[in-house]
Amino acid sequence: MSPYRLTRTLPEDTTGAALRADVLAGLTSTPKWLPPKWFYDARGSELFEEITALPEYYPTRAEREILIERAGEIAAATGARTLVELGSGSSEKTRHLLDALTALEAYVPVDVSGSALDQAGRAITAERPELEVHALIADFTARMALPETPGPRLVAFLGGTLGNLLPAERAAFLSSVRALLSPGDGLLLGTDLVKDEGVLVRAYDDAAGVTAAFDKNVLAVVNRELGADFALDAFDHLAVWDAEREWIEMRLRSRTAQTVKIQALDLAVDFAAGEELRTEVSAKFRREGVRDELAAAELELTHWWTDAEDRFALSLSKAR
Ligand code: SAH
Ligand code: TRP
Repeated sequence: MSPYRLTRTLPEDTTGAALRADVLAGLTSTPKWLPPKWFYDARGSELFEEITALPEYYPTRAEREILIERAGEIAAATGARTLVELGSGSSEKTRHLLDALTALEAYVPVDVSGSALDQAGRAITAERPELEVHALIADFTARMALPETPGPRLVAFLGGTLGNLLPAERAAFLSSVRALLSPGDGLLLGTDLVKDEGVLVRAYDDAAGVTAAFDKNVLAVVNRELGADFALDAFDHLAVWDAEREWIEMRLRSRTAQTVKIQALDLAVDFAAGEELRTEVSAKFRREGVRDELAAAELELTHWWTDAEDRFALSLSKAR
């Protein structure tokens, strides 16, 4: 049996320079914004797991359907001996891949959320004693040093998380993924597709208010880590479809004029009544767009699979 390993490449305390710099930059800009990776403390990861089970949130079910149906083809097309998963979270859907990849020797889940990652890593190690599981606490938008494991390597990036990056960040991210691959290695990418506006908006603004709680959790993270005094119920969650850029934008709208103090930055931030803070985008894709973005990073699209209702796509591309 291989030992389970957890490696941290991020500072233990998130009050570190990165959160301070992001919050300072975002809350002193017009319009205000906060970067999405700070959603995922232990509570944020739990709330995201709740989102995946909501009736309105179709992406997880659609992607799981494709994975179940195509796992055998993915295994045959890649022959992967190492699976690296970026933003792996609970690794819940990944189990379908782990079952199908018969040549697999190593699984390397990578996430900023140490709690979710460690829980998933330990569970998979217990379920699959033959597999080498090496969990990595790291930021996938920064340079990643992966452990030495056998090729061919397959990198999976599921959940539509690519859409949470802005276009320039996506290009930089895909190039850095390409740099992790040798010729013949693969990228398995999950992308949500452009569809009816009502379906999209409901997926990001559910009736039970779980997505609202998730969105506001980023304020709770700033309160705890930077000694801020955001009142979570002084903000409303909204999800807006931007038809031109084809993305959903999550925002928090200040109910009243208010001033928020952020101790660790020695900063007071004024919000006007109705002022909006952008917390996250979730871009929706079309096949040609995905193919072109991959090609720009020297990745060649070889397979494109969708669910029965054409809501979500899983693509496989190869490093040349
Ligand atoms: N892959 C899972 C989880 C998707 S949610 C699924 O499909 O259900 C997005 C995941 O990416 C979360 O677990 C979050 O903690 C992680 N994440 C977000 N930004 C990240 C970053 N910059 N670096 C590493 N992980 C990140
Ligand atoms: N990757 C997920 C998505 O874009 C993340 C997500 C789901 C999310 N619901 C959210 C992010 C609500 C912010 C707010 O679908």
